[in-house]
Amino acid sequence: MPDQPALPFTFEVLYGEGITLSQFDNHIIRRLSNMKSHFLDNAAYEAALAQEDTVLYEVYEIHRPEIPGELLHGLSIVHPGKVGNEYYMTKGHFHTVLETAEVYYCLRGQGCMVMESPEGDWAVEPLRPQTVLYVPPRWAHRSVNTDSKEDLVTFFIYPGNAGHDYGSIEKQGFRKLVVEVDASPQIQDNPRWLPPEVR
Ligand SMILES: [Fe+2]
Repeated sequence: MPDQPALPFTFEVLYGEGITLSQFDNHIIRRLSNMKSHFLDNAAYEAALAQEDTVLYEVYEIHRPEIPGELLHGLSIVHPGKVGNEYYMTKGHFHTVLETAEVYYCLRGQGCMVMESPEGDWAVEPLRPQTVLYVPPRWAHRSVNTDSKEDLVTFFIYPGNAGHDYGSIEKQGFRKLVVEVDASPQIQDNPRWLPPEVR
């Protein structure tokens, strides 16, 4: 526990050509090279990586103690683009403490959140400006930018003790992929998906 209670604070979401925060503690940058094995088309992935180690998404975090009662929050920005016909997306994760939820508020762009539970249930919900998405406890989540030009920008809030489990998704993949077919997003089965062990 902190020695002294935190003082209330405010900050601003700054809208410009891009969207950022007036203050943040951490800026995470995820590039193609950080996403090995996440995209279905390995040949397209290797070809893209050979050309340029492109930035796929960025996260601006406000640091808070990682304890129950605190809320971690920040901004997620997924850039537009595709690997093969699969849209740029985040790695996606379960929370280490499975019984923790998350809220996303979409500020800009067009996309969706791909989700699934350890029992193998799945859902894909749209993200567009003014959309609020509730990710219930137990559901892994990955944001996907389905626009060809604009960033997908969301503000997220989740419990301080949630933690991130990226390993399960790296091992089993998501059950559903979002790919472009005839210039439109389509949800497809992931042929490499492995059913998770029920926890
Ligand atoms: Fe999360």
